[in-house]
Amino acid sequence: MAQVLCHLPKFNDDNLLVGLDKSDDAAVYKINEDTAVILTMDFFTPVVDDPYTYGQIAAANSLSDIYAMGGKPVTAMNIVCFPNCLPVDILGKILRGGADKVLEAGAIVAGGHSVEDNEPKYGLSVMGLVHPNKVVTNSGSKPGDILILTKPLGTGILNTAIKADLIDKETIEKAVEVMAYLNKDACEAMQKIGVNSCTDITGFGLLGHALEMAEGSNVTIELWSDYIPIITESIDLAKMGIIPGGAYRNAEHVENKVIFKNDIKQEIKDILFDPQTSGGLLISVSEDKSEELMKLLRENNKTDSSIIGRVKTMTDKPLEVI
Ligand code: CO
Ligand code: CO
Ligand code: CO
Repeated sequence: MAQVLCHLPKFNDDNLLVGLDKSDDAAVYKINEDTAVILTMDFFTPVVDDPYTYGQIAAANSLSDIYAMGGKPVTAMNIVCFPNCLPVDILGKILRGGADKVLEAGAIVAGGHSVEDNEPKYGLSVMGLVHPNKVVTNSGSKPGDILILTKPLGTGILNTAIKADLIDKETIEKAVEVMAYLNKDACEAMQKIGVNSCTDITGFGLLGHALEMAEGSNVTIELWSDYIPIITESIDLAKMGIIPGGAYRNAEHVENKVIFKNDIKQEIKDILFDPQTSGGLLISVSEDKSEELMKLLRENNKTDSSIIGRVKTMTDKPLEVI
């Protein structure tokens, strides 16, 4: 992607606080001294069979980049690709799932656009607000920080297994619960405490997004493999080789920038590279505030939050997994 983007004209505007050049979660544009808007969009093909659930997951995923910047979603626009040959009430269910998540987020659906396409795709373009001084970028990590992850990993592997009909209803429900859960409560907790950096874990996997944070912040991120929350069913599936193609691309991209210090099992490595659908927030917070933040997360956020590593001054490689 970066090679293509560098041939585009450069846009200069002092009010653009976070733009294309930053590899961050969303664009941030300052309107005045008190207000900045956060702009993001995301859409993808169905991850589960049930259209309503798919709509919920796609919307939670699209809203997540607003939360990753520390913002509050305000308006959302539907992005719809849908084939002529499918019954239109399926689309109705997808849109209802999305709308219910937007409602839960305290935002509104204000419009959208649809095109005919052979494969359905759905997502949102979301506008959010944040105080210009409270933008949480992915490039503010400081040595000494503690890293917190607010959802367990493994959803890419589980989605691959769902498509191949390899897992039971309970496991699907478990994965859906994680993917459809908004990062709203995690965002509110981090903004209450004040943190140095945040990003959400999506297509690049934990290591891919941690790499962006480490490189953006000029630090080394050390992850503690035994402490990383994982949806347990994904471990056996990874052992069986049920791994999405994206995990291999992520591994290739990160390979030269990570040291695995101990003998970390291959299936755990696969999960660290697994592209997540609507994953949790990776938060970098100063050590003295980390306990207070964990307490708030335990009280208010319903997905598993764990301390998974720390930030160090830059060493040989931006990522170390021990
Ligand atoms: Co993101
Ligand atoms: Co995104
Ligand atoms: Co951020």
